Amino acid sequence: MANAKSALITGGAGFIGSHLVDGLLADGWRVCVVDNFDPYYAEAIKRRNIAAHLRHANYRLLECDLRDAAAVEAIAPAAGGDFDVIVHLAAKAGVRNSLTDPLGYQMSNVIGLQNLLTFAHRRGIKQFVFGSSSSVYGDCPRLPWSEADLDLLPMNPYASTKLAGEQLGYVYSRTFGLRFIGLRFFTVYGERQRPDLAIHKFARLMLKGHKIPVYGDGSSERDFTYWGDIVAGIRASMEYQASAYEVFNLGNHRTIGLLDTIRKLEDVLGVKADIDWQDWQPGEMRRTWANIDKAQRLLGFTPATDFDTGMARFAVWLKDTLKLEGAAVA
Ligand SMILES: NC(=O)c1ccc[n+]([C@@H]2O[C@H](COP(=O)([O-])OP(=O)(O)OC[C@H]3O[C@@H](n4cnc5c(N)ncnc54)[C@H](O)[C@@H]3O)[C@@H](O)[C@H]2O)c1
Repeated sequence: MANAKSALITGGAGFIGSHLVDGLLADGWRVCVVDNFDPYYAEAIKRRNIAAHLRHANYRLLECDLRDAAAVEAIAPAAGGDFDVIVHLAAKAGVRNSLTDPLGYQMSNVIGLQNLLTFAHRRGIKQFVFGSSSSVYGDCPRLPWSEADLDLLPMNPYASTKLAGEQLGYVYSRTFGLRFIGLRFFTVYGERQRPDLAIHKFARLMLKGHKIPVYGDGSSERDFTYWGDIVAGIRASMEYQASAYEVFNLGNHRTIGLLDTIRKLEDVLGVKADIDWQDWQPGEMRRTWANIDKAQRLLGFTPATDFDTGMARFAVWLKDTLKLEGAAVA
């Protein structure tokens, strides 16, 4: 397809990125994925995420590390052309590890982004979508959080790299004419969810009959957002042209308590949870809650998958995945 649109997706072997790639390929896009298969979680999971992509004629995988400026400069020649849009999802994700590896997070999330922005500017790429995070709000006292809140108070190194990323993006939009859209994702769940995230981590432990570690008093709440809704928001942002710089909350606008989340897991998995109560973790947010009025107004973003439906799909996927993993080990 000669006139197909072309996208560079960083982190396209990961949870959200691989779902985005599924949809883009189905819709006729040419897709180049950059991913370094960061060891934060098992490479085999990411290889599984992209197995079908590798068979697609419009798909190209570059195993490249964004921390390496020279490798980033070489992306366009290696991909055989330029891109209509970059969606930057590659990052060291996860709050807890950032407490022990803050420099690693700076390198991948801030230096990596800087290298990619330099590349976008040099190549004259016009549209840049950035996977930011609800964690930029941190201690911000007004809930639900809105993009109009300017007292952003990140509580951990991961969150501060995402806020730095939004600010770097503003520089490139204001001074270098790149359209930059920062998307603050609120805890994303569903099929292929990262294994370090609570729902997935708890589910595996519960299915093995192990205790699940719950930090604090169980009163924390999250605005869980199904991956399909996040991908719809990313797709709308790839086409957004009404202004040069925006940040948007992509959330579900509904919070769910940790104990209710565990009850829902018991329900969809058909096993009881055995809780191992632990001290509250430093850097953890107690509550996340998105005001999504702006994304609804400017992106047409409307979350379509409720928690019960998303969790039921997650449970089916996890049980299938465990069978595959069992077969791989056997
Ligand atoms: N999943 C969530 O709940 C959530 C919430 C808020 C923000 N986000 C952000 O969304 C994005 C995608 O998250 P995800 O959950 O799919 O994570 P993920 O870890 O599954 O995907 C990220 C991918 O980036 C790759 N990567 C990491 N460092 C890299 C580097 N230096 N060079 C090239 N590739 C590199 C990893 O190998 C991985 O495949 C991340 O930026 C994350 O911070 C996710």
